[in-house]
Amino acid sequence: MTKHLLLGQTLSYSGDPMAGDWQDVTHHDSAGAVLVDGGQIAAMGSAETLRRAHPHAKIHDYGDALISAGFVDAHMHYPQTAMIASWGKRLIDWLNTYTFPEEMQFGDRSYADAVAARTLDIALAHGTTTLTSFCTIHPESVDAFFGAAADRDMAVVAGKTCMDRNAPDGLRDTAQSAYDDSKALLEKWHGKGRASYAITPRFTPTSTPDQMHALGALWGEHPDCLMQTHLSEQVDEIAWVRGLHPEARDYLDTYESAGLLGERGLYGHAIHLEPREIDRLAEVGGALVHCPTSNTFIGSGLFDMAGLRARGISVGLATDTGGGSSFSMLRTMAAAYEIAQLRGTALHPAQLMWLATEGSARTLHMGGKIGALAQGAAADICVIDLASTPAIAQRATRATDLWEALFPTIMMGDDRAIAQVWVNGVAR
Ligand code: GUN
Ligand code: ZN
Repeated sequence: MTKHLLLGQTLSYSGDPMAGDWQDVTHHDSAGAVLVDGGQIAAMGSAETLRRAHPHAKIHDYGDALISAGFVDAHMHYPQTAMIASWGKRLIDWLNTYTFPEEMQFGDRSYADAVAARTLDIALAHGTTTLTSFCTIHPESVDAFFGAAADRDMAVVAGKTCMDRNAPDGLRDTAQSAYDDSKALLEKWHGKGRASYAITPRFTPTSTPDQMHALGALWGEHPDCLMQTHLSEQVDEIAWVRGLHPEARDYLDTYESAGLLGERGLYGHAIHLEPREIDRLAEVGGALVHCPTSNTFIGSGLFDMAGLRARGISVGLATDTGGGSSFSMLRTMAAAYEIAQLRGTALHPAQLMWLATEGSARTLHMGGKIGALAQGAAADICVIDLASTPAIAQRATRATDLWEALFPTIMMGDDRAIAQVWVNGVAR
């Protein structure tokens, strides 16, 4: 099989740049190389060394572009692709007005197929090689997403979104059917090719305790699966949960009491957490997923990246399409930067890039396998043009180091900045 040698600037990590000094674990080579063999990264090194060691490899010279791991979107809703950027509502009204009517259409397999394909193509155009998606209550929506991902050889995580209350007719399952359908889909897709199944109760307001317990039991039977849901996104939502569950200590407790709190749990948003919830998340090891464009767009609040990371809680980064207002993980990094600024912390570009790649991969328990430019990782790669528009280019020419050259692309870049994407060792 042909080996490929990608030449350019390379960015890689040997540890978590949020945990200590980012400089200690961040590696930039201005004349670097990545050797791709089959679906894997076979070696990393300097262009000179790897060219000499692999004289027959096919050369892909990206010049001054930055070669990074492909972006990993740790929380999104592919069925919301067609209604992204819907105006004027906060969470609960937004769900009822825009989201639920759109999700209703995913019982139609051909519609689901079309949106799944479109979503994955848009994601790839933005340099995102892994998506973690909520589907709809319809099993067809799950088959459509995993099928479209398999067609593109993409590593994805997804699950049937379960709802048995506070959702319109036609968009509710039951405790039993949620268990049965999720189990059947999990057995069909989990570990098939690059697919991983995530058990997916939408959030406490739309799942009865019976449904939550049924899904908790399913997770207990399949502990290697991820479980994804939403937590403490908006204050009205939290008040609603309190009203529905006066017996619970807090929002997180509604999950914990049903067996839905665990190390492989992914809790989206997590903005307005109580001290006890933070303590429990830190103890158990559940991961939080920060969705910054969504949090500003829907008006949810300011995620406490520095405080939660200081507690040792794992945090991934995500678009939350279509509550999020962009498909771009560059735009998502920019919003994470802005929210952290509003909370008094300036996230470094090295930290932002890590969050969008390896940080997210770690929350999915796929660290080292995806989201990393490292020997043995999947060759899911994104090549970033650091001068993709005149506005970015004029700023980048003034840069004195990589970070100053990269930051304008993080803040102002979009799909035009993605020069090339590689998926499982194949250039797309
Ligand atoms: N909470 C429950 N469902 C959703 C959803 O689809 N999007 C967002 N942003 N929050 C939710
Ligand atoms: Zn979400």
